[in-house]
Amino acid sequence: MYLFDNPPAISASAPGRANLIGEHIDYAGGVVLPFAISARTKVGVSPRSDKTIRIRSHQTKDQIEIQRYEIAKWRGPTWARYPLGVLHFLGADLPGLDIEIDGNVPRGAGLSSSAALECSLALALNEYFTLGFFPLELAKIAQRAEIEYVGMPCGLMDQAASILSKANMILQFDCLTLESTYLPFDLEAHDLGILIIDSQVKHKLVDGGYASRFRACESARIALGLDSLRHLTPKLLEEAKLDPIIRKRVSHVVGEMQRVEETERALVSEDFHEVGALMNASHASLRDLYEVSCEELDLATDIAREVGALGARMMGGGFGGSAIVLTPKHLESKIMDEVEKAFANQNYAPPRHYSEKPGVGARIQEKETFAFKSS
Ligand code: GLA
Repeated sequence: MYLFDNPPAISASAPGRANLIGEHIDYAGGVVLPFAISARTKVGVSPRSDKTIRIRSHQTKDQIEIQRYEIAKWRGPTWARYPLGVLHFLGADLPGLDIEIDGNVPRGAGLSSSAALECSLALALNEYFTLGFFPLELAKIAQRAEIEYVGMPCGLMDQAASILSKANMILQFDCLTLESTYLPFDLEAHDLGILIIDSQVKHKLVDGGYASRFRACESARIALGLDSLRHLTPKLLEEAKLDPIIRKRVSHVVGEMQRVEETERALVSEDFHEVGALMNASHASLRDLYEVSCEELDLATDIAREVGALGARMMGGGFGGSAIVLTPKHLESKIMDEVEKAFANQNYAPPRHYSEKPGVGARIQEKETFAFKSS
C-alpha cells in the first residue's frame, strides 16, 4: 500500500545501528566501532509540480503538509522534524515533494531510528536530483539536521554507521579525522552471536541527560585548552584540576577511547574473550562514571554475563534503550529466557530481543523489489 496516489519515483532505505564499543565518545573526537542492524527505515519520494511538501508515515499514521518556504521556521511534531531538517540542510532548490516513510527500527530503543530516517531520505534525494554529495557528506547533513533543526545534540556515529556500514564488518569510524575503515567481524565463523536486548525503557534523548554529558565534555575540553578530548592522556587527566563530576565524565571518555584501541587489536587477533571483557568494562564505566545506564540495563547485562556471554553492555545514548551482548551462539535463547524471567520478577515490562549480525548501510531500493508493506 502506498500513502500517495502513485508509487514513489525513488525509494531508499537505511539501517538502524548497533555499537560494539566506543560509547559517548563520538562527540569527544573518539573512534567508534558501530555496525548496521537488520531493521531499516524506507523512504519513498516523488517530486511535485508545486512547492508543497507532504510527509506521511506508515507507523504513526501522522501526516504533515507545508510549503517549502515554511521549513526554516517550522516547529511541528518531532517525528517530522527529522526529514524536514534534512531538506533544510541539503540546501538544494528542490521542488515540492511527497515523502512516505515506513520501517521497523524501534523508536526510543537506542538503535538510531532517527539516523535511519534522516539517512534514507538524504540518500534518496541525493540520487534522484543528482545532488552530488559523497556518502560522508550526507551523514554530516543528517547530523546537522538532528542538532540544529531537531535540537538534539549528537555526534556523527549513528549517521556514519547508517550510511557507511558493510555486511559482516565493523565500521571503524574516527570522529576526529572522519576517516573510516572496516574490521572483519564474521560471527558465524566463530559460532558467536550478537544479541540486542531492548529494555523497553523508552529513552528520550531530547530530555536533557544526553545534552548535559555533551556539555560536560565540551567544558572539560575548553578548561584543558585542548582541540579535542582525544588528546587527553590519562596522565594529563590525573594532573588536571577539574570539578569532580566533570572528572568522572571525562575519565569515562579517556578510558573508553583506550578500550576501543584494545578492542581493535583484539578483533584483529580474533580474541573474542578479550572483546567481551572490554565490553563489560565499558558497561561498568557508563554505569558508574558516566551515569547513563538504568536498572533494567544493568540487570539484563548482569544476567547475560551470568549465563555465559563473553561481554554485555548498555548501548547508545543510555537512560534506557538497548544492551548489546556478545555470546556463544548456542547461549542466545538461554540468555533471553533468563533475562525475561528476571524482568518479570522485578515487574519490569517484558524486554524485546533481536539476534543481529553486521548488515549493509543505506541503499537505493531497486524498484522491482520495492514494496511498502501493507498496514
Ligand atoms: C546517541 C547519539 C550518538 C552517540 C551515542 C552514544 O546515539 O546520537 O551520536 O553519542 O548516543 O555513544
